Amino acid sequence: MTTPQWVESWAPEEGATRVQDLFALAFEAGSAPGVWSAPGRVNLIGEHTDYNAGLCLPTALPHRTYVALRPREDDLVRLTSAQAEGVWETRLSDVGPGTTSGWGAYVAGVAWALAEAGYKVSGFEAAVDSCVPFGAGLSSSAALEAAFAVALDEVHGLGLAATDEGRAVLVDVCRRAENEIAGAPTGGLDQSASLRCGEGHALLLDFRPGLPAAESARPVPFDLASAGLTLLVVDTRAEHSHATGEYGTRRASCEEATDRLGVASLREIVDLEQALAALEPHDADGVLRKRVRHVVTEIERTAQFADLVRDGGVEQAGPLMVASHESLRDDYEVSCRELDLVVSAALDAGALGARMTGGGFGGSAIALVRLPDVGRVAQAVADAFAEAGLRAPLFLDAPPSAPAG
Ligand code: GLA
Repeated sequence: MTTPQWVESWAPEEGATRVQDLFALAFEAGSAPGVWSAPGRVNLIGEHTDYNAGLCLPTALPHRTYVALRPREDDLVRLTSAQAEGVWETRLSDVGPGTTSGWGAYVAGVAWALAEAGYKVSGFEAAVDSCVPFGAGLSSSAALEAAFAVALDEVHGLGLAATDEGRAVLVDVCRRAENEIAGAPTGGLDQSASLRCGEGHALLLDFRPGLPAAESARPVPFDLASAGLTLLVVDTRAEHSHATGEYGTRRASCEEATDRLGVASLREIVDLEQALAALEPHDADGVLRKRVRHVVTEIERTAQFADLVRDGGVEQAGPLMVASHESLRDDYEVSCRELDLVVSAALDAGALGARMTGGGFGGSAIALVRLPDVGRVAQAVADAFAEAGLRAPLFLDAPPSAPAG
């Protein structure tokens, strides 16, 4: 029997002390840096729907990335991180698509995208530390971007983080940083979750273009504990990377399908059977139809899940999670052996529902579990991994937590 290992989140004071200490070690004495932080996210349902103008339903994790930052007069950016060697440096004038690489690209990209959006930003020195697991599909990169977005917002007096409309602007800034400077073709789910989620709430995101901020993200009270439930997050520690081609290939298939169907996005499909029939002549191997079926059915499941949460029926959401996982596994083909194993072991041990979360190809899965069953479900998953000869997974408790600030 292997003991399940848990990844604890840091108290805010601990995170702040860590980055202040790191900052003092790396940079010259002078005015004290300010401290900001931003959470990783877990998506309850609505996967690979964001770049299809669809719906997603994330919550913010209690696990956060912390930043101690001091602005500079010039345009030099100097960064140090507890998770990386040495000091990463660039001039803001050197940052642009295709010119910036390494982990600092996510940070310098935020400053670049703010400038592109018309906000004047200077250089800065900053120290970073994080308890968001890396490469676990829990949006450590969005947490990094969002922490810097709110930091730069405050030191330059932009006032964007003060309102949800302003935060929607910061979401766009962070997404551009990730797409155009870090070179990862992701949608806006992760950045929206890190910047716009609220404590005790899930966030129903609607990615139709042009919606007013208040309609693009609606907080939904999400109190699992009072329903006697909890959400167990399992980091499979199986390798996962969006920058690799698979994520881009999925996006390209969706774009090809929209072109063939003559719609602006897959969200516009009203009759799935009709759309599938229209694709058939152009789809000898059936791949396009599988991708479209996932996206259209996943958007529907997300709406149903959000309705259940609103109506106090979240304990009935398990089958929607399972259907989402099967669709991601069989139609979208982004699951993997480790994710499937978490889902089957958790369901066998009595979880109400379970599914992969995030982009897939490794990363994390979630299980909806009755409170008294948490230990048993975690144990069953840990045992299943040990029996299969896999590296021990990690477990996270995920009460819906506060946004970047
Ligand atoms: C990753 C991306 C998101 C989203 C999910 C899948 O997390 O960063 O934009 O597409 O995958 O839902």
